[in-house]
Amino acid sequence: MKNIIIAIDGPAASGKSSTAKRVAQQLGYVHVDTGAMYRAVALKAMQLGVESGDRDAIERMAKTTTVRLEYDDAQKVHVMLDGADVTDAIRMPEVSKAASDISAVPAVRDLLVREQRAMGAQGGIVLDGRDIGTVVFPNAELKIFMIADAYERAVRRAMELEEKGIYADVLALEREIMERDRNDSTRAHSPLKKADDAYVIDTTRLTIEEQTAFILSRAKELLA
Ligand code: DC
Repeated sequence: MKNIIIAIDGPAASGKSSTAKRVAQQLGYVHVDTGAMYRAVALKAMQLGVESGDRDAIERMAKTTTVRLEYDDAQKVHVMLDGADVTDAIRMPEVSKAASDISAVPAVRDLLVREQRAMGAQGGIVLDGRDIGTVVFPNAELKIFMIADAYERAVRRAMELEEKGIYADVLALEREIMERDRNDSTRAHSPLKKADDAYVIDTTRLTIEEQTAFILSRAKELLA
């Protein structure tokens, strides 16, 4: 069987990661949540007190940073920052904005894109992010661009956070999501953008099962 690359891009909280995870499970592929990698670098900057506007300090920090995704026996992914497990810490709401800001720094993108390309070199991988189909793997066999209404995305994010015991105001989340989309789409380097050859899926009224089924059927056509 061929091992293809599946690129899933789209705005914040559009359901990319949970869908990518299911698609990967069904195909026996690796899932790479590239947003988690940017979050890890942002967490390090926060811990060190480095501001996202201080490009020189961020570049210096990027040179001595390693971000790896490790999979345990249960196939659960662990985000490792300089060898420490930061899987839970990177999900704190304040890390989202910091990740969006730090992802505009070319040195950070270069570091993480290199790592993502190494992970995907053999195919058999589903990556989700903002620039996978446009920059990281422009030759990916299957590209998806997932969108959803901002309010719906905020409701879903609030529910996810609630499961972790974090209570957030839906309207504040909606504002934060829209602000992050603006930030991610207007940066100079690798902005959030649909690849010309990507399928667009609007998940506002779709269930996770429906969006997973759509991607799996496109993948199976390619693998047939
Ligand atoms: O997917 P996420 O919301 O966890 O991503 C957090 C931030 O990381 C997002 O606001 C922008 C940045 N990001 C990026 O610039 N490129 C990617 N491929 C993935 C995420």
